[in-house]
Amino acid sequence: MEKYKIDVCEYDDILSLLDIQECTNYTHKMLKDMIDNERTIFLKAIQNASIIGYCALEIILDEAEIHTIAVQHKHRKKGIAKQLVKACIAKSNAKKVFLEVNEENEAAINLYKGLGFMPISKRQKYYGDNDAIIMELCPRHQFND
Ligand SMILES: CC(C)(COP(=O)(O)OP(=O)(O)OC[C@H]1O[C@@H](n2cnc3c(N)ncnc32)[C@H](O)[C@@H]1OP(=O)(O)O)[C@@H](O)C(=O)NCCC(=O)NCCS
Repeated sequence: MEKYKIDVCEYDDILSLLDIQECTNYTHKMLKDMIDNERTIFLKAIQNASIIGYCALEIILDEAEIHTIAVQHKHRKKGIAKQLVKACIAKSNAKKVFLEVNEENEAAINLYKGLGFMPISKRQKYYGDNDAIIMELCPRHQFND
């Protein structure tokens, strides 16, 4: 696995985050609001002082929701997203984690299934013509490392 470090996102990172995002369409203000939000765990993967990926999760009481994740194209399929999701979940200490994913986003669905997320329902036409699959994970049953 290539060497990178996981750290907390700050205001100065926002332009780099906007560069990396692809299907997520978060604005500068939305990313800033997430950094400001005390309940949000917003982590980045850094290599040679450049941000190569990020993941944001919001804690809601003893549960959490993954809001966004992306990895820079040339660094994909190296396990970085998996480590970012695991790091956010570990920090959240949540009993249950939820997310919504576009039914056509095979990479993201496989990522989440590989981490133990299970599909629990669908939101019809949530992404234009596509449905959203809602997935759930009980981290304490999945992660022992
Ligand atoms: C989805 C995304 C974050 C995955 O990042 P990544 O760092 O490449 O993912 P990982 O290397 O950690 O892969 C973990 C698992 O995801 C699955 N996966 C990743 N990319 C895949 C692809 N292109 N096709 C199918 N499965 C894929 C695999 O099951 C993989 O496990 P494996 O390596 O053991 O086979 C990345 O493709 C991305 O940034 N996409 C654009 C943004 C996006 O779609 N975000 C999610 C919804 S908003």
